[in-house]
Amino acid sequence: LSVKIPMSFRKLSLSRRRMALREATEFDSEAWEAISPGEDLLSLADAMVESAVGIMPVPLGIASGFLIDNETFHVPMAVEEPSVIAACSFGAKLVKTGGGFTTWADDPVMGVQIFLEDAAHEEKITDDLIQEYISNDLVSMEKRGGGYRGFAAERLEKSNVLKIEVYIDVRDAMGANLLNTIGEKLKPALSSVTGGTALMAILTNEAKKRCAGARFKIPVKAFGGEGLKVAKRVVLANQITKEDSARAVTHNKGIMNGITSLALATANDTRAIEAAVHAYASRKGTYQGLTEYRVEGNFLIGEVELPLAFAVIGGAVGYHPASRLALKVLGNPDAVRLARIAAAVGLAQNLTALRALVSEGIQHGHMRLHANRLAYQAGARGDEIDLLADDIWKGQRFHVEEAKNLLERLRQQ
Ligand code: MEV
Repeated sequence: LSVKIPMSFRKLSLSRRRMALREATEFDSEAWEAISPGEDLLSLADAMVESAVGIMPVPLGIASGFLIDNETFHVPMAVEEPSVIAACSFGAKLVKTGGGFTTWADDPVMGVQIFLEDAAHEEKITDDLIQEYISNDLVSMEKRGGGYRGFAAERLEKSNVLKIEVYIDVRDAMGANLLNTIGEKLKPALSSVTGGTALMAILTNEAKKRCAGARFKIPVKAFGGEGLKVAKRVVLANQITKEDSARAVTHNKGIMNGITSLALATANDTRAIEAAVHAYASRKGTYQGLTEYRVEGNFLIGEVELPLAFAVIGGAVGYHPASRLALKVLGNPDAVRLARIAAAVGLAQNLTALRALVSEGIQHGHMRLHANRLAYQAGARGDEIDLLADDIWKGQRFHVEEAKNLLERLRQQ
């Protein structure tokens, strides 16, 4: 059974909500501390969402040493999975042996959709007409180099609904606010000009015009003595993702390990980015892996391209103090640069995963990191964690009780 909380919970003050929650649950003090930051952050949580009771602290780490377009980046990542940051840093190290990542990106163009029923005169919709209605909303975006970038109209076959997509270059924003404002403006305007009735207007998270990509070329000897063999196996593992969607889902999940962690660290909309990426993975009619690999002579070439609606301003980005720190670590990039970094991070993760999968398997590395968590669970704190994790690893026995015994011995030494 779920705990009982008071009626109208959302209308209580933050402190009353927290009191009610405390009463309703039997929190251990560690759990209560975990959701309880200082006053400022609590107020921030309250200002950000309805019915806030605290925060969910996720580890923030830095994947270091990414050479991207001849510049070094250290990438902040927020993630609960132990292996992700390690995998990205390792991938970055491998790619460095070949001179780093080369990246590219589209302009940050997003679309808003307006759906009309019974619209008879779609031919009356023109660029001029749309711009007339939305020009006021675009003044500041135009000053920053963004603005109107056209429209497309399509009749949906079964419903006979007329869909109009209006495209805006949103520069450093994610664009949801601006595009939804524009969509609402255009609803009555497009209804009256086409003689239709507006059903709804909302931005599309598809972000297909906002892709970013990354590529590397590394000498196969970066994989060690059997480098060429490993590289060929990586290519084959990637080929499988074009033929088997169950494998492709896991492959792309790994790419998103890197990208979503960067999105969360910068307070970007992780759900929007994930939805767009997985839709893109299905664009050929079946769900496929998003990377391309090939061997050329003694080099492995890897590449990824995917929609990445990353923002550096707006929403929680820049507003959440932790996101400001994350952006600072990256040297305060613009949104396009951030998307390009994200593409490189996703590719780095994938390279590490494929290399491990076709060689020793990933469980080896995962268990090493698991030993750290086990050490914490057994009661180790601070420097003890590494020492105990080493002992657990040496013994290859992963049980809390045994870890507790090892910890006791460690403390006696
Ligand atoms: C684990 O979070 C990610 C991997 O499963 C990705 C993959 O299988 O390619 C290792």
